Amino acid sequence: MQRGSLIVASAGIGIGQCTVEARSAIEDADIVLSVMGDPFLQQWVAALNPKTRSLQSHYGSQPNRRAAYSAMVDEILVHVRAGLNVCAVFYGHAGVYVTPSHEAIAQARAEGFDAIMLPGVSADACLVADLGVDPGAHGFQSYEAHAFFRRRPRFDTSAALVLWQLAVLGDDAFTRLEPDYEAVAALATLLCEHYPVDHRVAIYAASTLPVLTASVQQTELALLATARIDQSSTLYVPALALG
Ligand SMILES: C[S@@+](CC[C@H](N)C(=O)[O-])C[C@H]1O[C@@H](n2cnc3c(N)ncnc32)[C@H](O)[C@@H]1O
Repeated sequence: MQRGSLIVASAGIGIGQCTVEARSAIEDADIVLSVMGDPFLQQWVAALNPKTRSLQSHYGSQPNRRAAYSAMVDEILVHVRAGLNVCAVFYGHAGVYVTPSHEAIAQARAEGFDAIMLPGVSADACLVADLGVDPGAHGFQSYEAHAFFRRRPRFDTSAALVLWQLAVLGDDAFTRLEPDYEAVAALATLLCEHYPVDHRVAIYAASTLPVLTASVQQTELALLATARIDQSSTLYVPALALG
């Protein structure tokens, strides 16, 4: 029996952003297990390899997101142990704010299988392009919004701040799918302790299709909770100008 292996591949945020090496990994795999944010991206992956199965259903069948991630890792490992060359493909960069990709690789390696990750285009790479900001200009801090609010890490207002996963801010139970605007207002209050209330911030969502444009909602920080927020929303807080 052939020895199983695992390639964790990145599909990019939008159609057309998958790298040549990730595309080959998808096409050549014995089985592809996918987690795509966008149905068109899911269809595109399935067209590359008909042996594609979505792992998305675990979100619905498990009590919370942590349990869903664990079920995804279990399913990936079942096929690796069965001797298949498995490609697990995640949207964006598979290693950026993704728990099951890292856990699957760690588990596969712990069991003696070859396991690698192929990098890709993440949401912050799109943000840099669409907002025209250079992380090298002032520095670039990146946090998961809920963890940022709960842990209150020391951060630097003279560098840009990127907060991911606004839609699950305030969700201690890892179950919610809809944004909690009271939690967003509480985050705004916290940030207003460090920035002027009228500091201009952007709620950013990259386009996933070439026919669409990115969504960039500019607002004053104090009005953050009046913005429209969904699963794609990433908050960009520009650096404060140094006196
Ligand atoms: C679980 S993380 C996955 C990130 C993904 N692996 C990546 O490389 O961008 C989900 C978060 O990524 C960000 N995100 C996902 N899709 C996005 C998009 N189209 N535009 C902007 N941010 C996005 C949002 O902050 C969202 O809450």
